[in-house]
Amino acid sequence: MKYVKLGSSGLDVTRLCLGTMTYGSKDWRPWVLEEAESRPLLEKAVELGIRFFDTADMYSLGRSEEIVGKALLEMCRRDEIVIATKLFFPLRDEGPNRQGLSRKRIYDCVDASLRRLGTDYIDLYQVHRFDPRTPIDETLRALDDVIRAGKVRYIGASGTTAWEFARALYRADQNGWSRFASMQNHYNLVYRDEEREMLPLCQAEGVGVIPYSPLARGFLGGSRTREQWNATTRAETDAFGQADQFRDCDWAVLARVVEVAEQLGKPPAQIALAWLAQQSAVTAPIIGVRTAEQMQSMVDALEIEIDDEQRSRLEEPYLPRPLGSDL
Ligand SMILES: NC(=O)c1ccc[n+]([C@@H]2O[C@H](COP(=O)([O-])OP(=O)(O)OC[C@H]3O[C@@H](n4cnc5c(N)ncnc54)[C@H](OP(=O)(O)O)[C@@H]3O)[C@@H](O)[C@H]2O)c1
Repeated sequence: MKYVKLGSSGLDVTRLCLGTMTYGSKDWRPWVLEEAESRPLLEKAVELGIRFFDTADMYSLGRSEEIVGKALLEMCRRDEIVIATKLFFPLRDEGPNRQGLSRKRIYDCVDASLRRLGTDYIDLYQVHRFDPRTPIDETLRALDDVIRAGKVRYIGASGTTAWEFARALYRADQNGWSRFASMQNHYNLVYRDEEREMLPLCQAEGVGVIPYSPLARGFLGGSRTREQWNATTRAETDAFGQADQFRDCDWAVLARVVEVAEQLGKPPAQIALAWLAQQSAVTAPIIGVRTAEQMQSMVDALEIEIDDEQRSRLEEPYLPRPLGSDL
């Protein structure tokens, strides 16, 4: 497994990050794998050389962090792995100080994540979303504090607009606070609106891009058709991954993925991942896998070269989304 720098930071990360939103407890979402089912997948990831792992405090309401921290620290030396987690969303009921990015919340959440992960520092601490109800300077200063306190090594952001992210980078620079080293954004062949503003911003600012849902929550994996889109539990019960979220042009993109896959004699999922991994702004896609075979296939996809003609065919049917829409 190759390593790359996370943007212009000094941190080495593997070219694939394993996402662990799907590991935790079925009480949270029906498609989540419990500890006994997830552990072999974490073992497989380590065997394949993956050393970069993404979780969040809200995944299975903390259970994902517990499972991931315990397994990885039993399998690897702490300095070998890069653990990324996130905060913002409420873990239980909403209420005062139970969500968002105030100083109080950041201090509470970092300690709670450290306890669940079973480690004394987080490599990459990410804001899952920006908090419109807390001044950005309060958030940035508190994130800088948890770095200075030795609890966090780098900070990252996720799921935000380019203007908000640009403002946060600028405010951090202006005040001498730690700046975001990474952007975890939604980016795949059927969600490319990030190419307009966010990706050029990240490239210009030396921010590492670690896109989530590289297969559009399984849509680009080739197992869904218009007639039978609910073939797996994930497809059937993941609200974002359901067929009605996908537009005619997205089905046209999927048809092109299948066409290029047939031409190269590879599975569609590998084509979708190879396309993403080869985008110049992308540092390390965050994969979500349900089986060891899917993981192996994603790792093998890094070897596939998509040429310019294939790239144009894959990209051609895409239409930008209307203003204000988000997936
Ligand atoms: N920051 C955020 O807001 C945010 C949001 C979403 C996700 N994430 C992060 O990104 C990670 C990945 O997200 P995701 O699970 O949505 O990723 P994804 O890769 O888009 O979707 C994963 C699904 O794709 C299918 N799949 C995976 N490998 C395959 C293969 N080799 N062949 C065929 N199908 C394959 C499986 O679907 P089936 O189960 O149907 O087979 C799997 O459940 C998460 O774990 C999380 O860490 C972050």
